[in-house]
Amino acid sequence: HTRWATHGRPSDENSHPHTDCLGKIAVVHNGIIENYLELKEFLLAEGHIFTSETDTEVIAHLLEHFYEGDLPFALNQAAKLLRGSFAIVALCQDSPNLLAAARKDSPLIIGLGEGEFFFASDIPALISHTRDIIIMEDGETAVLTRQGAQVYFDMQPVSKEIQRISWDVSAAQKGGYEHFMLKEICEQPWALRQTLKGRVSPDMRGVEFSEFAMSREELERVSRVFIVACGTSYHAGMVGKYFMEKLLRLPVEIDIASEFRHRDPIIDKNTLVLVISQSGETADTIAALRESKSRGARVLAITNVLGSSIAREADDVIFTWAGPEIAVASTKAYITQLMALYLLTLYFAQTLGHLTPEELRPVIKALYRLPNQVQEIIDRLSPQIKELSRKFNGHENTFFIGRGLDYAAALEGALKLKEISYIHAEAYAAGELKHGPLALIVDGLPVLALCTQKDVLEKSVSNVKEVKARDAYVIALAFADNESIRDCADDVLYLPPAPDFLSPILTVAPLQLLAYYAAVSRGCDVDQPRNLAKSVTVT
Ligand code: M6R
Repeated sequence: HTRWATHGRPSDENSHPHTDCLGKIAVVHNGIIENYLELKEFLLAEGHIFTSETDTEVIAHLLEHFYEGDLPFALNQAAKLLRGSFAIVALCQDSPNLLAAARKDSPLIIGLGEGEFFFASDIPALISHTRDIIIMEDGETAVLTRQGAQVYFDMQPVSKEIQRISWDVSAAQKGGYEHFMLKEICEQPWALRQTLKGRVSPDMRGVEFSEFAMSREELERVSRVFIVACGTSYHAGMVGKYFMEKLLRLPVEIDIASEFRHRDPIIDKNTLVLVISQSGETADTIAALRESKSRGARVLAITNVLGSSIAREADDVIFTWAGPEIAVASTKAYITQLMALYLLTLYFAQTLGHLTPEELRPVIKALYRLPNQVQEIIDRLSPQIKELSRKFNGHENTFFIGRGLDYAAALEGALKLKEISYIHAEAYAAGELKHGPLALIVDGLPVLALCTQKDVLEKSVSNVKEVKARDAYVIALAFADNESIRDCADDVLYLPPAPDFLSPILTVAPLQLLAYYAAVSRGCDVDQPRNLAKSVTVT
């Protein structure tokens, strides 16, 4: 088990497993023990010797403290003293065929194989071994032996439902691609079709969700919408905000989950809170969901993972059906979150009577064209993008600029580039350039200019000229009919025709590919960038 340290620097000493004084009991832990200093003080006074700087090591010594020949009992006792979040698995030399586990606020699942049983945080880790899983709940402990698995609540056996995961094994393998990220970028046309499947009436005049419904009366009571998420999911939410406000004329606030939960947000029973999370296990997003529910808001989740904490705790769920996303950098999850947000907004507009079936039809048709258009973009633009990725050579900084929905998409493009290539990338609302960032434009600095929004096209073009005048190297993304950009950008990546409001679905694939090829050419670990984890299950 390798895991980056939440306490102490990443080093051998601070890596899991951690052991007790005798090296007899070993633990692995996901989460954060908030009262570890207090516990450590107590254990030090008891004579325990610590060898790492981690919070996790207190668990091993606490187990030693309570251990009298029964590891599950000791874990049950220890868990009662721990504050914070944890998924713990423990092993003791005295019973080498037994694993004991405990969960609170960090994901933990059990895999039931044929004569083999597993603990894991996440489904993708298990699908090459088994598709039958048990999801552990907060407060539960469990024991695995060669004979099977048993879950307990306060040492009393609990009977649990076995869930069958439909993802197939190939979904968690690279399938001939050099990296999961590239595979997942290329899967996006398929993933978009999955999100659309079954959600549009056969005559393309209506949107429906089998797992979620809101009546006109319920929607009319909604006075504002909050979208809460982290990272890429937050960027998808930003697109959702722009589209919802435009179509529904309803105030939509967007917040980063780690900010939202600590800032006493103004929400009540008339607020609809939309949480977005690929994994459904992001700790801050879960906390935001709980905070919203406790204040009486209705919480609707958009997630990719069935059985995840967010899917289980939200009042309603819309699944993106993108299949397992393995690369740390989110790609197909983002594009399917966008599709889910477009569908949801159209569903609201139709229910509230803002759009008639006749008005919906061309929009739905445009949504249906997107998977093929994304495919066409990947096929046609990949060679050009690979070539352009060299423009980053010798540069440690870059800007992504755009207005409106282009700005929302620019945020995601910049995040992709920085997280996998380690090039410092800043996304700016293009109109903000002259309020500071222009000072950083130097000769040859690559600037990605997203210019798809017709209502601000002239302004976007003048921003391109502004950075060109300072000798930036401008790579623009624009629809094919955009003549004005041709003369002022150094290179243009042309997109197939679509309504402006759908452009984030088209601009994202080129931006992901640009980040991917830049990272590959710099020799970076594309699928597992330094210091990052796929699911951020700690706060
Ligand atoms: O699983 P989630 O969607 O809740 O994850 C949120 C972020 O941690 C995630 O999007 C992160 O920003 C990705 N590394 C971005 O590629």
